[in-house]
Amino acid sequence: MKIFLIGFMGCGKSTLGKKLAQKLGYEFIDLDHQIEKSEGTTISEYFSTHGEAAFRKLENETLKGFDYPANAVVATGGGAPCFFDNMDWINENGLSVYIEMTAAGLAKRLEGGKDKRPVLKDLDETQMIEFIENKLKERNVFYKRAQLTVNGINLTADAMRAMILNRQ
Ligand code: S3P
Repeated sequence: MKIFLIGFMGCGKSTLGKKLAQKLGYEFIDLDHQIEKSEGTTISEYFSTHGEAAFRKLENETLKGFDYPANAVVATGGGAPCFFDNMDWINENGLSVYIEMTAAGLAKRLEGGKDKRPVLKDLDETQMIEFIENKLKERNVFYKRAQLTVNGINLTADAMRAMILNRQ
């Protein structure tokens, strides 16, 4: 089974995904890291050199073209489900799990790591909460199409594993 973790930047897709993969005995794949590896650059650098549209195209190609192992936990970039037909593809090719969090919760987590996230780098704290609220509204249309939604506050990999295995 392929489990695609989706959700806003900072919701814990990579951190929890790694642990979840370990608990399930699955491989962990971080699509942003795959892009960085194949392009030999960071996401920030890629954004500033080529722009967002080129990044979204590459993200789409990486999502669909990656040679996934049979069992994998896949962390997708925060914007990935919201472009092209990526969310359809995710739902057709695996189990989608949305790690849901409020804008305030996300802003708190993202405060320290803005340098790594080109979408946030120029925002102060007030602008950041506002930005996240607006983006979440837009993106929830896609995120809410996940087959399973879990609350990201105090979420553990054990709890996630249980919810995935016990889903209806
Ligand atoms: C983005 C999220 C990032 C990365 C890129 C754009 C977004 O991934 O793909 O910086 O648009 O939300 P993370 O969610 O892993 O930070």
